[in-house]
Amino acid sequence: MGLSTIIIFSFVISLDVISAFPQATNESAPVPVAPVTAEKVVADGILSLSVDLIRNLHHAVKGENLIFSPLSIYAALSLTYLGAGGNTHDEIGKVLRSPTGSNEIEKFHKSLGSLLESIQSRPERVLAEVTIANGFFLKQQLELKPTYLNKSKEIYKSEIQKLDFTKQDEAVAVINKWVSEKTQGRIPQLFQDPLDPDTLAILASSLYFNGRWNEHFYESKTKNETFFTGVEEITTPLMHNEDAIPYVNNSSLQFEAIALEYDGKDFSMGIILPYANQSLSNLTENLKPEHIKQVFDEENCISIDYKIPRMKFQSSFSLKDSLSALGIQSAFHAANFSNLIEAVPMKISDVKHAAEIVVDEDGTTASAITAIQLIPLSGKVVIDPLKFYVNRPFLLAIYHRPTSTLLFLAAVHKPL
Ligand SMILES: *[C@@H]1O[C@H](CO)[C@@H](O)[C@H](O)[C@H]1NC(C)=O
Ligand SMILES: *[C@@H]1O[C@H](CO)[C@@H](O)[C@H](O)[C@H]1NC(C)=O
Ligand SMILES: *[C@@H]1O[C@H](CO)[C@@H](O)[C@H](O)[C@H]1NC(C)=O
Ligand SMILES: *[C@@H]1O[C@H](CO)[C@@H](O)[C@H](O)[C@H]1NC(C)=O
Ligand SMILES: *[C@@H]1O[C@H](CO)[C@@H](O)[C@H](O)[C@H]1NC(C)=O
Ligand SMILES: *[C@@H]1O[C@H](CO)[C@@H](O)[C@H](O)[C@H]1NC(C)=O
Ligand SMILES: *[C@@H]1O[C@H](CO)[C@@H](O)[C@H](O)[C@H]1NC(C)=O
Ligand SMILES: *[C@@H]1O[C@H](CO)[C@@H](O)[C@H](O)[C@H]1NC(C)=O
Repeated sequence: MGLSTIIIFSFVISLDVISAFPQATNESAPVPVAPVTAEKVVADGILSLSVDLIRNLHHAVKGENLIFSPLSIYAALSLTYLGAGGNTHDEIGKVLRSPTGSNEIEKFHKSLGSLLESIQSRPERVLAEVTIANGFFLKQQLELKPTYLNKSKEIYKSEIQKLDFTKQDEAVAVINKWVSEKTQGRIPQLFQDPLDPDTLAILASSLYFNGRWNEHFYESKTKNETFFTGVEEITTPLMHNEDAIPYVNNSSLQFEAIALEYDGKDFSMGIILPYANQSLSNLTENLKPEHIKQVFDEENCISIDYKIPRMKFQSSFSLKDSLSALGIQSAFHAANFSNLIEAVPMKISDVKHAAEIVVDEDGTTASAITAIQLIPLSGKVVIDPLKFYVNRPFLLAIYHRPTSTLLFLAAVHKPL
C-alpha cells in the first residue's frame, strides 16, 4: 500500500529488560533496576547505530516507507566483527561502538550474546514472542577457524551449514528456506537472483517478533480516515483507543510521542510524530539516541485519545553504501577476515537487509533478516577439492542401509 510514513517506528525493548539480564532466570523475582554496564554499552551501541542508519536510509528512500531492524543488523555485524582482523576489525568496532582492548572486546561479545538470550527468554508474564537466529552458510571445502567456530556457537548460537555455492539455484533455495522458517514465513524470498558462484560464505541474522497489545483496539472503532502523506491525502483505516499511556512532548526537536505496550509489558512500540508544521526528514536528520530513550523512559502516564493506522509494509535494500558511509570501508575492499577463515582472503560483497511489519487491532508481527555475503578478496579462488582417485587396489561393498545388510563385498586388483 502506498502510504508514505509520517510516523517513525522505534521498535525498542524497554530498558528494564536490558538491565535485567543475565539474571533473568527467576520468573517471579522482581526486575532489578540497576543497569549492568557491559550490557548497557551494547544497548547504547544498538541505539546509536539505529539513529545513524535511519538518517542515512531515510534520505535514500525519499518518501517511501522504511523499516529495518537495528538489532538484526547489529548482531550480523558483530558476527563479522568476531572474525575480522586489523583495520577491518577496528572499523566495524567503531560502528558498533565496541570498547577497545581484548578483554573489553571479549566482554562486548558476551554481553551481546546474553542480550540476545534475555530478549528471547520468556518469563511467564511476557506473552510476546521473539526469535533470533544466526546462520552461517559456508562453502563446502572451507573450515572456520576453531576459535571463531567455538565463539560463534557458544556466544551467538550460530547454526553452521555447509553449502555448495556453485549449485546456484540450490544454494539460494537453502538460504531462502532457512530465512523463511526463522521468520515464520514472513520473508519467503530474501534472494531472488542466483548467488555469485564464487561466494565463500553467507552469514545471516534473523529476528521475528510477535506481540499482542496490552490494550487491544476494537475493530468496531477502526474508521477510514484521511492521512496526509505530505504529498497527497489518502484514506486509510485508523485504529482508535483511549487510555492512560506514556506521552512525551519534546519542543526542542518538535515532536510528540506515545508508547504502546505489548502484553506482558516488556516490549513497547513508540510512535514519534513530528509537529504538524514539521517534516519527518527534518526530524530524522536531527534525531539522537536520547530522543528515542526519552520516549521509552517516560513513566508518567496521561489519559490520551489516540489513533494509529493499521499498517503492513516491507523494505528490502542493500546496506553496503550506508555502512561504508558510517566508516566500514576496508571490509568491502582490502578486508582482513583472518580470524574467520584462514585459508582464503575474503571480503564482503554485500549486506542485504529485509524487514516486514504488520500492525492491526490485535498487535504486531515484525521480522527482519540481515545477510552478509563473503567472496574471495581477489579474483576467483580455486580451492582444490579433496582428491580421491581409485587407481590402486581397493575394497568395494554394496549395502542395504535400512537393514544394514551387506549384499556384496569385493577386493579389486584388476578392474577389467
Ligand atoms: C524465585 O524468587 C521467589 C521470590 O523471591 C522465591 O520465593 C523463589 O524460591 C525463587 N525461585 C527460584 C527457582 O529461584
Ligand atoms: C589481519 O589481522 C590479523 C589479526 O588482527 C593480523 O595479525 C594480520 O597481520 C592482519 N593481516 C593483514 C594483511 O593486515
Ligand atoms: C568452546 O571452548 C570451551 C573452552 O575450550 C569449551 O568448554 C566449549 O565446550 C567450547 N564450545 C563449543 C561450542 O565448542
Ligand atoms: C474502508 O474502506 C475500504 C475501501 O473502501 C472498505 O473496504 C473498508 O471496509 C472500509 N473500512 C472501514 C473500517 O470502514
Ligand atoms: C508542547 O510543548 C510546547 C512547549 O512547552 C508547547 O508550546 C506546546 O503547546 C506543547 N504541545 C502540546 C500538544 O501540549
Ligand atoms: C528533547 O530531547 C532531548 C534529548 O532527550 C532532551 O535533551 C531535551 O531536554 C528534550 N526537550 C524537551 C522539551 O523535552
Ligand atoms: C528543523 O527542525 C529544527 C528543530 O528541530 C527547527 O528549528 C527548524 O526550523 C526545522 N527546519 C525546517 C526546514 O523545518
Ligand atoms: C511549529 O508549531 C509549534 C506549536 O505547535 C511551534 O511552537 C513551533 O514554533 C512551530 N515551528 C515552526 C518551525 O514553525
